[in-house]
Amino acid sequence: MQTYETKQFNFKNLEGISQEQIDQHLGLYAGYVKNTNGTAADLAKYAADPDGNARALSEISRRFGFEFNGMRLHEYYFDQWTDAEGSESTALQNTLAKEWGSFDTWQAEFTAMGKMRGIGWVLLVQDEINGNLHNIWVSDHELGHLAGQKVLVAMDVWEHAYMVDHPASGRGAYIEAFFKNLNWGVIEERF
Ligand SMILES: [Fe+2]
Repeated sequence: MQTYETKQFNFKNLEGISQEQIDQHLGLYAGYVKNTNGTAADLAKYAADPDGNARALSEISRRFGFEFNGMRLHEYYFDQWTDAEGSESTALQNTLAKEWGSFDTWQAEFTAMGKMRGIGWVLLVQDEINGNLHNIWVSDHELGHLAGQKVLVAMDVWEHAYMVDHPASGRGAYIEAFFKNLNWGVIEERF
């Protein structure tokens, strides 16, 4: 059986995001890894007798996307803050500036999508077929992904991502801190 391990992340000097906020969030991430493995095991068990487990198989199959993407998106998210320090402008930042007119225009669009009502993620993704870049909204962890896209930037906008540090209305301040701590060198390697 294929299984997944909980990753370790290396943060330094995060601005505007407390250690308690990170610790609680990492605990939730570990839950997604555990449930990805548990859901995969359940799926194999139910699939061994699909007629006897038709409803359970149907539901657990849908559940797998929630748990798996919950795991993987958090890995993209926390990795972006690895050794977070001021970053030079990168080829991706230059490409974003070219495609959106300016880097700030791209960031403003990404931010505006992050402030939309609802829980989920804003992702900057790149089409594996033609290299096009898109900002997309993903509800929960699994609804709205585009086929064949590589994740470059992942921003969690579930309330759990900021409510240790901010009230429910504090998403804007959280998004500012999110950008301040990005390590664009890590993101560049995905591009
Ligand atoms: Fe999260």
